[in-house]
Amino acid sequence: MTQHARSPLIVPSVLPADLGRLGAEVADLAEAGVDRIQWDVMDGVFVPNLTFGPDVVAAARRSTVVPFEAHLMVVEPDRLLHRYVEAGCDLVIVHAEACPHLHRTLAGIRRLGARSGVALNPHTPPEVVAHVLEETDLVLAMTVNPGFGGQAYLPAVESKVARLRRMIDESGLAIELEVDGGITDTTIVGAAEAGADVFISGSWLFDHPDGKAAGVDLLRRRATGAATASA
Ligand code: DX5
Repeated sequence: MTQHARSPLIVPSVLPADLGRLGAEVADLAEAGVDRIQWDVMDGVFVPNLTFGPDVVAAARRSTVVPFEAHLMVVEPDRLLHRYVEAGCDLVIVHAEACPHLHRTLAGIRRLGARSGVALNPHTPPEVVAHVLEETDLVLAMTVNPGFGGQAYLPAVESKVARLRRMIDESGLAIELEVDGGITDTTIVGAAEAGADVFISGSWLFDHPDGKAAGVDLLRRRATGAATASA
């Protein structure tokens, strides 16, 4: 079993941002020391909300060099993969529940020159990704039901995160394990102890009383401490 060194990555969701000044908000996040920036792409079908088209992402791309990830909460994502890669996303994440040909879709993202990722809704078992680990660079375990920010974290997902951590370590592959939804300075501890190494935070980070940089720093310290304690 190979244990990969895992310093935590702190990645904001742009969903709570002031959409009237998106470029400036993205530049602020870069200034705050985030490792990547996540775009929550929703189509109003896979989830009951509608958000960022590729042109919006491309416009914000001019404001920073920080890597972008697109979290596609859409049906038939194959239609859109190239648009988000062209818009400047280094990583494209699709939902397993939306991909009848998940292996082909993940390989397709890599052929476009981007890193690939697969997301699982809270009810979806980890075994769904067991036969596509060679095709993915990241697995995302949703810790809320996707569609909105500001929801409560689901601790019941932690046993699935622990199972995914074992599957990834047993594979020997350098795959990131991401959690998304309800991540705060408190809930991040359970997620990190379970084995996650990438943490998405939206409302908690944008609302942090001391500003985004202090929030990023606190999340990183909490995740590092939890990972060290559970190693
Ligand atoms: C929900 C999105 C999340 C959400 C996170 O569908 O995938 O990225 O915006 O926001 P918080 O941290 O507020 O739960």
